[in-house]
Amino acid sequence: MQAINLPKAAELTSPNPVSVVCTEKTDGGTNLATVSWWTYLSFRPGMIGFAMAKTSYSGDMVRNNQKVILTIPGAEIAEAVMGCGTTTGRNTDKAEQFHIELTSIPGSSIQIPVHSRVAIQGRMKEYHEVGDHYLYICDVEQVYGSEGEEALFAWNGYSQLRPAK
Ligand SMILES: Cc1cc2nc3c(=O)[nH]c(=O)nc-3n(C[C@H](O)[C@H](O)[C@H](O)COP(=O)(O)O)c2cc1C
Repeated sequence: MQAINLPKAAELTSPNPVSVVCTEKTDGGTNLATVSWWTYLSFRPGMIGFAMAKTSYSGDMVRNNQKVILTIPGAEIAEAVMGCGTTTGRNTDKAEQFHIELTSIPGSSIQIPVHSRVAIQGRMKEYHEVGDHYLYICDVEQVYGSEGEEALFAWNGYSQLRPAK
């Protein structure tokens, strides 16, 4: 084996997971951000975690109101999901900019992309500083799924989004 760095390791572990973290903006609208660094943490009780750069607007919103829905995007919105990972909700309405159709789920004011394979509604329990990111640990409140949507994954590290099959 050769000594490599973590970005190279992420290329070697491709395909990597991809989620869209949906948060509530200060104006009540929904912000969408692409996040690969998420994981299940516990089934009983249900808990998930995800890491977001300290500078991200989504992180600000989760720390503001503790509310988040993490979705696994469907293949149909691959291009738009890449857009959500290269712009910030500080100055962009991403759903409008990338023509992402949103829908509501019961009991949440945050909307999610219609083309989602899974949606995990969570509430932030705690967050921890981890280098240049914060790790958000969330209790799971509700989970929704749609087998008809084909899940997206990140290939070549995080440079391309397409299904795993
Ligand atoms: C495929 C892909 C995966 C990404 N994964 C993460 C991630 O796990 N954590 C993170 O902080 N940013 C990740 N990003 C970058 C964020 O989506 C990007 O910084 C975005 O502008 C944040 O938006 P916000 O400021 O509206 O929160 C990823 C981007 C792409 C394209």
